[in-house]
Amino acid sequence: MHQPERAFTVAPSLMCADLLNLGSELSTFEQAGMELLHMDIMDGHYVPNMTLSPDVCTQVAAACAIPQDIHLMVENVDRFVPLFSAAAPRYMTFHPETTRHPLRTMQQIRAGGIRPGIAIDPAVSLATVEPLLLEADIVCVMTVSPGYSGQALIPWSLDKIADLAQLRAQRGLDFLIEADGNASWDNIPPMVDAGADIIVAGTSSLFDATMSRSDALTRLQRLARRE
Ligand code: DX5
Ligand code: ZN
Repeated sequence: MHQPERAFTVAPSLMCADLLNLGSELSTFEQAGMELLHMDIMDGHYVPNMTLSPDVCTQVAAACAIPQDIHLMVENVDRFVPLFSAAAPRYMTFHPETTRHPLRTMQQIRAGGIRPGIAIDPAVSLATVEPLLLEADIVCVMTVSPGYSGQALIPWSLDKIADLAQLRAQRGLDFLIEADGNASWDNIPPMVDAGADIIVAGTSSLFDATMSRSDALTRLQRLARRE
């Protein structure tokens, strides 16, 4: 495992947290200086799983000062935007194939004072979503297929991150690139070297069952150069 060339932001994936002790998890993240909470939302339709609800997001927002990054893995996403806007997240990303007019969805998110972004399924090409990059403040590159924690990295998704970073530079755009899925101790450096600015930290690192939360946080902060 090598040290990434650049600093990056760690975004704990709350679906992987100890939900029976979420309050203490959140205060641990606040004390550690975490800057973003990744909230994976699943409806059992776009992906065969269900996770956090709008109420959980609003209660977390009331209890924890760390800004949220809500990742909507739901069909008919336009129905869910107002529900999750109530948590006043900093970012809201969604999969463009879940609405007929993704640009309008992004504009609706922005109108609510939230920074919009798209999440790119491994099977979706950059060419397909390129027009939306002009409206995006954040782009979540799925480095596993959406739906479950504990999956293995799709190796060629690193090339997608690199291609997206190159596209961003060529177009003079400034959206943030987020890597989401199997951000393990070995995978984080190549994800960041490829261009990721934000790393979604799940069971592969922060919630690594083989180490304490504080040891994992220390190790992540060191990797992120945020120690
Ligand atoms: C996939 C999830 C993953 C997960 C990350 O749909 O969004 O991002 O939270 O956890 P691990 O590290 O287990 O992939
Ligand atoms: Zn996610």
